[in-house]
This record gives sequence, structure tokens and C-alpha cells, in this order.
Amino acid sequence: MKSSSLPMFHAWFLTTILVSGLAQSTSLYTDPRDVPMKEYDFIVVGAGTAGNVIATRLSEDPTKSVLVIETGIDDTDVLPVHVPFFGFNNEGSIVDWNFTTVPQKELNNRTISVPRGFVLGGSSSINLMIWTRGSRDLWDHYAKVTGDSSWSWDALEKYWDNASTYLDSTISTLVPPTSNPAIPPTPRSDPTLSNGNGPVLVTRPNFPTELDDKVINASMLLQQKNPHSRFKDTVDMNTGGSIGFGYNKETTGHGERSSSATAYLHPALNSQRRNLNVLIQTRAMRLLQSTNTPSNSTTSNDHSSVPHFNQVEVAQSIDGLWVSAGLRFKFSARSEIILCSGAIGTPQLLLLSGVGPKDELKELGIDVVADRPAVGKNLCDHPMLLTMYNVNSNQTFDDLTRNPALQEPLLEQWQSNRTGLFPNTPSSVLGFMRLPDDQLKGVQDSASGPHAPHLEMLFADGFLPLTEPLPANGHFITVLNAIVAPKSVGSLILASAHGGMFTHPFIDYNIYADPFDIQAMLQAINDTETFLSTAPWTRDNFIISVAGRNSTSIGTKEEKLAFMKDNTITVFHPIGTARMGSKEEDVTDSRLLVQGLKGVRVVDASVFPTLPECHPQAVVYTLAERAADIIKENHRML
Ligand SMILES: Cc1cc2nc3c(=O)[nH]c(=O)nc-3n(C[C@H](O)[C@H](O)[C@H](O)COP(=O)(O)OP(=O)(O)OC[C@H]3O[C@@H](n4cnc5c(N)ncnc54)[C@H](O)[C@@H]3O)c2cc1C
Ligand SMILES: *[C@@H]1O[C@H](CO)[C@@H](O)[C@H](O)[C@H]1NC(C)=O
Ligand SMILES: *[C@@H]1O[C@H](CO)[C@@H](O)[C@H](O)[C@H]1NC(C)=O
Ligand SMILES: *[C@@H]1O[C@H](CO)[C@@H](O)[C@H](O)[C@H]1NC(C)=O
Ligand SMILES: *[C@@H]1O[C@H](CO)[C@@H](O)[C@H](O)[C@H]1NC(C)=O
Ligand SMILES: *[C@@H]1O[C@H](CO)[C@@H](O)[C@H](O)[C@H]1NC(C)=O
Ligand SMILES: *[C@@H]1O[C@H](CO)[C@@H](O)[C@H](O)[C@H]1NC(C)=O
Ligand SMILES: *[C@@H]1O[C@H](CO)[C@@H](O)[C@H](O)[C@H]1NC(C)=O
Ligand SMILES: *[C@@H]1O[C@H](CO)[C@@H](O)[C@H](O)[C@H]1NC(C)=O
Ligand SMILES: *[C@@H]1O[C@H](CO)[C@@H](O)[C@H](O)[C@H]1NC(C)=O
Repeated sequence: MKSSSLPMFHAWFLTTILVSGLAQSTSLYTDPRDVPMKEYDFIVVGAGTAGNVIATRLSEDPTKSVLVIETGIDDTDVLPVHVPFFGFNNEGSIVDWNFTTVPQKELNNRTISVPRGFVLGGSSSINLMIWTRGSRDLWDHYAKVTGDSSWSWDALEKYWDNASTYLDSTISTLVPPTSNPAIPPTPRSDPTLSNGNGPVLVTRPNFPTELDDKVINASMLLQQKNPHSRFKDTVDMNTGGSIGFGYNKETTGHGERSSSATAYLHPALNSQRRNLNVLIQTRAMRLLQSTNTPSNSTTSNDHSSVPHFNQVEVAQSIDGLWVSAGLRFKFSARSEIILCSGAIGTPQLLLLSGVGPKDELKELGIDVVADRPAVGKNLCDHPMLLTMYNVNSNQTFDDLTRNPALQEPLLEQWQSNRTGLFPNTPSSVLGFMRLPDDQLKGVQDSASGPHAPHLEMLFADGFLPLTEPLPANGHFITVLNAIVAPKSVGSLILASAHGGMFTHPFIDYNIYADPFDIQAMLQAINDTETFLSTAPWTRDNFIISVAGRNSTSIGTKEEKLAFMKDNTITVFHPIGTARMGSKEEDVTDSRLLVQGLKGVRVVDASVFPTLPECHPQAVVYTLAERAADIIKENHRML
């Protein structure tokens, strides 16, 4: 039993056209033999969300050379990456690694998909563009866990500002199309929140759907009825307290997706930075200690016996199970290797380099360089349940999803002037909630603090075919319930040493292993039923029934438990596999250096010690801006 991911817009899937008009940069290489140098000051592994921030910031210093190695393809000509409404179409396509989990015991042994960007921009090029910053409590918790106050919310304010710029849609060039009969848009934003001055563009949704008002009004009504209600309205969820229902902000600007590739990397390459070289379609296979670095120095330096990685071995293809040695190339780093390969790629690369739990490595025949038991452990993601409802409306996206002919004029419109439906993502409203106090009595709170949520509710004005195919008839909405502070923790281990980075690892989220998470999801289902029984939804009998059922309710507790097992996936937010912390057993220290090694830093979602209770890309960008500053400080850079 495998949950299928069905692309919504088959017609455009294989179409690639030049969308951004970017000139092909001369510093973008597809063959390792063409790369001008063998040695760089810094090597960044992975041109993903964090990697492009690091590469761009470090190469601001013209005296330092930076090589970026990315296994994925150039994003420039991949249309579905750039059209925001196609946000869901990239999963399972040429820009996805296509990982899956091992069978999940509590999900009837279903395997679920683990999409990860295989493209410049990494997952920021294929994600759903939701821009949530998390709570003040989240960062303050990281400061506490690392014993380093420079990770606190207040200390990070300037890095948040340097990562993004919020474009109020009233000043953007976009206009909602006149043909849409829905209510006018009323997205709100806290005017006291800084708009920032960084490269990533952030916009509020500006194509109204019939759901927007219903969601906002329902949360307001529930809050008015009971001031202590767990349903709250919020004007802006990015101001430090992240709880409440409101409009999403999204990483789009001028009608296109804003990724770390379009915002950071391409502008840096196009500004002719000679010290920045990017090698794509090339996989880092492992890190090596160069033979001319004596492992036992004659100095009395305590670190003299610490393994020092200063080379990256790469390959472009695989021959059977083995990558043939003749096709491997090496690049050296004078200062540092920075791993930005993401929460799946980074631990896999460390393990293949002999850095990980020693028994696991020995069993696979990998020479142990450093026994680091936490590498690959602490893997977690947000469990997410999709419920589709039949609705009494003809305005949902379902007709569009079914009929490519209806998409054509919208795509033409997007191409001609970036207006209409397609500059928007398929979802514009969401809400975050705490669990009820009685569920937290006597147990450790899984959230970072009292202002951090446990649950999230997202809404889409159509049937999202992520767990079930779209029915041939009918109109639907999708409610997505996520546990943003789960307790279940899993792991990533190598499936084999054969094939190196070309062999998918065993990814186990261990979903619902902790009964706390099952209770939390049951609560989320109840909350959805409460939410949908308010006037904005019951008026005109808008909600007809749960798709494929007779009732607006999923049913008894037993039926809800069964429904959860059959339909839970995740929000695609894995973290934690190279966690930072203050203890010896943590993979990195608070300056993101891998403990027990010299010369290797990790900057990506794998360092988060606990799950951000939000969509994490903003957290990753902020981490990366801070990390760039740490590295510059360490090497006294400009
Ligand atoms: C489908 C999907 C939807 C999402 N929706 C949202 C959302 O709406 N909002 C939000 O905030 N977050 C969302 N996320 C999560 C968010 O995008 C990620 O948490 C974030 O982008 C992770 O950044 P990263 O730098 O850690 O890794 P990535 O951005 O994934 O970068 C890792 C890069 O390393 C490369 N790489 C890996 N191994 C190697 C190797 N051996 N050699 C060379 N290159 C390598 C990869 O190809 C990739 O480009 C979503 C994620 C997905 C997949
Ligand atoms: C992921 O799957 C799609 C569809 O089968 C395929 O086109 C793509 O090449 C795969 N991605 C990778 C990195 O192999
Ligand atoms: C899941 O697989 C395990 C191991 O194969 C098996 O013991 C268990 O019964 C299976 N569970 C279900 C619900 O099929
Ligand atoms: C943030 O950006 C501004 C303007 O580009 C720059 O002057 C400043 O040095 C940056 N700060 C950090 C911490 O990177
Ligand atoms: C390094 O030092 C250790 C302990 O002093 C010693 O056992 C080992 O043989 C030395 N290795 C090399 C390569 O000199
Ligand atoms: C949807 O369209 C059908 C067929 O045109 C019509 O009968 C029905 O009343 C419409 N429903 C709504 C809610 O507008
Ligand atoms: C955008 O282009 C469409 C045609 O594709 C046209 O109908 C519309 O008026 C244009 N809008 C603006 C603001 O130029
Ligand atoms: C959900 O609601 C049902 C019926 O209203 C109740 O019996 C059950 O305890 C609730 N479950 C949770 C987890 O709140
Ligand atoms: C939401 O509330 C506004 C203001 O009270 C009202 O004008 C609008 O009709 C309501 N919409 C829905 C769907 O309830
Ligand atoms: C709907 O309800 C009827 C009568 O209660 C029942 O016979 C039928 O099987 C139900 N259908 C579904 C899809 O649950």
C-alpha cells in the first residue's frame, strides 16, 4: 500500500520553456572537468535553500573563492518551479529526489513520499511557498538547547530582515482578475513588523477564494463566543506569537516563485562574481582527508588527532551498483567544507564519509572516521492528515485540475503579464492552535513554549490529490491537519554502502509511535469538526459531506483512528539528523561545526534540535544568514 502522488497538471508537466529570461551564466558548470580550479577556500555541498545563502554571502568577499556542488538540475527552464499555482506539481517530477519512507508501522505499513528538491534552490524551488517564521519561543528554545544566546529571537532579528523583503500586494504590479466573482481580498499584515531588506520576495495572497472569508470569520466567531477559545484570529503570524488563523504570506514576487536560486544564487552569478563557481548535475559522494595532511601533527595542539576533512569526492553517474572509480573527481577546500545537503542528504553524506554510529558503519563495511552516534538520529517531520469535503459550490479549483484546456488561458495570462490565478499558491489561509490544557497535564509539553502551537489547519479550495486521486465529478475543499509539535522521533540509516549517494537511505519518521501524537491528531479532527460547524460553513449547506462518505463527520473515535492510519502523510519538513547542541553527543556545536572533526560545518534543516512549529523555510533562511556571519567572523572575512 503506497500513497500515490498524482500530479495535478499533467499537461504542463513536461513542458519546459524559458521563464525567467536569465542569461546562462558562465560560472555554472555541468562537467567537473570544466571547473576552473581544483582548490577553493570554501566548498558548499548543496545549492539548496541554505546553501545558496551561504555561497552568496561568502562570495561577497572577493578575496575568497567558493565552489558550490549541486546534484540537481538548473531551475531556469523548469516551468512548474516558477508558476506559483503549480506548487504541488513538482513532487515526483524531474526536480524531486523521489525518496520514500520505510513502511510506517502505525500507518498500516504504508510508505509515504519524502519529496526533496533536486534542482538549484533545493526544496525552496519545489515547496508550497508558505512563509511562517515560527514563534519567539522557538528560537529562544534553540538558544537554550545550544547554550548560545545568539540563537535567540531578539538576536536573530537582523538576519530575518536580511533574508527577505515583504512586498505589500497593494504596491505590487498584480491585480486580481475581474472575472472572479469571489469576495475582495482582505489579507492583513502587522504594520509594525519590519518588511526586511533581503533577497527573498514575500507577498500576501492576492487572488481571493471563497474559503478565505469563511476561515477568517469562523475563527473570529469562535473567539468572540469564548474569549478563552483555542481558535484565535491573528492579523499576522510572523510577529513572535504564531498562534491564530489568518492569511498566509508566500515566497512569491512579481507573480513568480522566489527561491534561494532566484533570490540569491542567480543574481550573484549574473553579477559576474569571478570567485563563485557552481557545478551542477554532480553528486558529492563523500568527504575525504587529504593524504598530505598529517593526521598526527607535531604541535601540542589538542586537535591534532582530530580527523580533518578537506576534500570532496564527486561523481555524475553510477555504473551498476558501483560508481566507477574513473568517473570520480576531487575538489579541495582550504578553509572549510559546508554541508548544505538538507536533512536527508547531509546525514547520508556524513555516514558515507565514516562519520556516524560506529556499529552501523562497521556493519556496512564503512571505515569509521569519527564515532558520532547522533548522525541520522532525531529525524522528525510534521504528521499531516488530508480530509476532502464535497462542497456546494462551483468555484473550486477542481474543474481546472480536471481539464487542461481551462488551464491554457490562465498560463497564457501568467506568461504575458503575471496576472490572474497562477501567480498565487493553491492555499491562502491557515491557522495555528495550542492543544487543550487537559491534554498537556502531567506530560512534557512538546512545543517550544507557551506561545508555540501544537496543531495547524490549512485549507485549499479544491481536492488535493496527494493521498487519493481526484474523483471524476464534484467540487471539493481540502482541510489539512498537521501536528506541528509531535513527539515521535525516527531515524535515517544507510540502506547499503553500495552506490553511495546514488542509493536511497532508509528513512523512518516513526509516525504516531508516541501515543501523544495520536491523541493530538484526534483532537485536530475534532477541532476541524467544531470549526466547520460554524455559520460561515453551514450557511447555504456549503459543506455537504466528507468525500466518499455520507456524513460531514469522519465518525466514531474508532473510525477516526482508522482514517488517520489510512490517510496520514507529512508536511515534507524533515529536520534534526545532524542536530546542534551544547552536549558532546550533539552532532554540531552552536557554531554549527561538526564535533569530533576539523573543517566541516553543517548549515541546513538537519541542525534543528527540535521541529519548528511552522513551515520551516523562513527558519532555514534565518539560520543560513546567521551561519554566513559566523563563518565570516571565524575567517575574518569582509
Ligand atoms: C514539497 C515540499 C513542500 C514544502 N512546503 C513548504 C512551505 O510551504 N513552506 C515552508 O516554509 N517550507 C516548506 N517545505 C520545507 C522547506 O522547503 C525545507 O524545510 C527547506 O527548504 C529545507 O532547506 P535545506 O537547505 O535544509 O535543504 P534543501 O533546500 O532541500 O537543499 C539541499 C540541497 O542539497 C542537494 N544535495 C543533497 N545531497 C547532495 C549531494 N550529495 N551532492 C550535491 N548536492 C546534494 C539537494 O539536491 C538540494 O538542492 C516544503 C518542502 C517540500 C519538499
Ligand atoms: C523522480 O521521478 C520522476 C518521475 O518518474 C523522474 O522523472 C525523475 O527523474 C526522478 N528524479 C530523480 C532525481 O531521479
Ligand atoms: C507490518 O509489517 C510488520 C513486519 O512485516 C508485521 O509484523 C505487521 O503485522 C504489519 N502490520 C500490518 C498492519 O500489516
Ligand atoms: C544586512 O543587509 C544590509 C544591507 O544589504 C547590510 O548592510 C548588512 O551588513 C547585512 N547584515 C548582515 C548581518 O548580514
Ligand atoms: C598518531 O598518534 C597515536 C597516539 O599518539 C598513535 O597511536 C598513532 O600510531 C599515530 N598515527 C600516526 C599515523 O602517526
Ligand atoms: C453549480 O452548477 C450547477 C449546474 O450549472 C447548478 O445546477 C448549481 O446550482 C450550481 N451550484 C452552485 C452552488 O452554484
Ligand atoms: C494581462 O494579460 C491578459 C491577457 O493574457 C489581459 O487580459 C489582461 O488585461 C492583462 N492585464 C494587465 C494588468 O495588463
Ligand atoms: C472528540 O469528540 C468526541 C465527541 O464529541 C469526544 O468523545 C472525544 O473525546 C473527543 N476527542 C478528543 C481527542 O478530543
Ligand atoms: C465574513 O464577515 C464579513 C464581515 O462581517 C461579512 O461581510 C462576510 O459576508 C462574511 N463572510 C462569510 C463567508 O461569512
Ligand atoms: C450512506 O448511508 C446509507 C444509509 O445509511 C448506507 O446504506 C450507505 O452505505 C452509505 N454510503 C456510504 C458511502 O457510506
